[in-house]
Amino acid sequence: MLSQDEFRQYGHAMIDWIADYLEKIEDFPVKSTMEPGALRQQLPQEAPFTGESMDVIFTDFKKYIPEGLTHWQHPGFMALFPSNSSFASVLGELLAAGVGINAMMWDTSPSATELEETVMEWLRKASGLPEGWKGVIQDTASASTLTAILTAREKCTQFNINAHGFAEHADLLVYCTAHTHYSIEKGAKAAGFGADHVIKIPTDNTYAMRADALEERIQADLQAGKKPCIVIATLGTTGTLAFDPLKDIATICNRYGIWLHVDAAYAGSAFILPEYQHYLDGITLADSYVFNAHKWMFTNFDCSCYFVKDNSALIHTFSANPAYLKRTHEAVTQYKDWGLPLGRRFRALKLWFVLRNYGISGLQQAIKTHIQYADIIKSFIQTHAHWKIFAPPALNVLCIRYVPAVSLTTEELNTLNSVILNTINQTGKFYLSGTTVDEQFIIRIVCGGTWLTEQHLHTLIHTLEDAAQSACAQLAISA
Ligand SMILES: Cc1ncc(COP(=O)(O)O)c(C=O)c1O
Repeated sequence: MLSQDEFRQYGHAMIDWIADYLEKIEDFPVKSTMEPGALRQQLPQEAPFTGESMDVIFTDFKKYIPEGLTHWQHPGFMALFPSNSSFASVLGELLAAGVGINAMMWDTSPSATELEETVMEWLRKASGLPEGWKGVIQDTASASTLTAILTAREKCTQFNINAHGFAEHADLLVYCTAHTHYSIEKGAKAAGFGADHVIKIPTDNTYAMRADALEERIQADLQAGKKPCIVIATLGTTGTLAFDPLKDIATICNRYGIWLHVDAAYAGSAFILPEYQHYLDGITLADSYVFNAHKWMFTNFDCSCYFVKDNSALIHTFSANPAYLKRTHEAVTQYKDWGLPLGRRFRALKLWFVLRNYGISGLQQAIKTHIQYADIIKSFIQTHAHWKIFAPPALNVLCIRYVPAVSLTTEELNTLNSVILNTINQTGKFYLSGTTVDEQFIIRIVCGGTWLTEQHLHTLIHTLEDAAQSACAQLAISA
């Protein structure tokens, strides 16, 4: 076991290592090139029987681990959605590990509960969420949404399924779209609805839910004796960052008494900018809302911010008070009753550090800068003869594809764009991701990394150009 002195020594050394790593992160290829099994082969089959020195462990960390990391904090990480971070956040995380508490109940660490209440209230106000809504930090948006689905399930059955199971409630329905994140279907399955009870409402030409189609489907389901339980509206879908029309959807949900959960996992960070809060029009009629500070708010994974209008339904769904969890005060928040897990990490600390160190204006500026960076790429694409914008660009996300002058089939175009993407990713300078929408393969660019600078965007533009030329040459297509 480490001594106090060794802890200090290696603690300092590891902070230095992190600072050096982040300073030199661009020396690594952004996406790991490790072959499957390569690390497993180098590590012993058994745990050491006798403890090893931190010197040996740290040396092995440096020798074996970084090569198999995809460097999410590399400025060229523009794939998926980011999981960005900041020095303030890392230090908050370190202290949370250092004090080593479990934030399950007020009694198990009053500071953790009250700090979580405070930062959630700060974020509620800063993000333009309705007065009176209460927040809790969950690990992921998937868990936040599962929490919403379970609460909706209980509220719409008068808490009957919790008490008696599904016997009398076979026809509960969840509504979303084909562009909703897959965690919604996963949540609906886990909550016992069944995947065939997840109704995918048609979308318009921006890939947003058609409110008229939602209402038509709800009416048909009601007539068929089914029970519409929850609608999930997405503000910023994963594939193309489409925004479902919240106000219209909320009005419909209100009319039929259906729970409305709003998934703004990625885009929600931008609502700290008042000019983007219009996306939240209608939120007062919704029931729950999630955004991930661990995606675009400089707070390292995990930190999912879940807000509810009526926390009593949430608590009614999840609370249980076994004799071994004695409470000394009644009128305090018990976050163990706000979701599935009993044990909870002290996530509020890193978020508190970030909110204080950046300040709201610092966060606004950083997010605004990312949106301006996406505009640089957008201007390049819009004036280019062959690069095309695929879906309406929003915030700091762009979906693009290369369409050469020669006529190609959809399949040929998809192959070309997929080769372009691989070519870009093989440079090691950038990591972009692709997806398929309407059977068309598209390349996504997300400008959300903490360490991204304007210079990287100019390099990316050259890389896009070069990759398109090289892929066309490779496939013998005239560029
Ligand atoms: C819109 C949306 N919802 C939910 C999720 C799931 O997030 P998490 O990984 O926090 O569960 C994602 C992930 O990218 C997302 O884009």
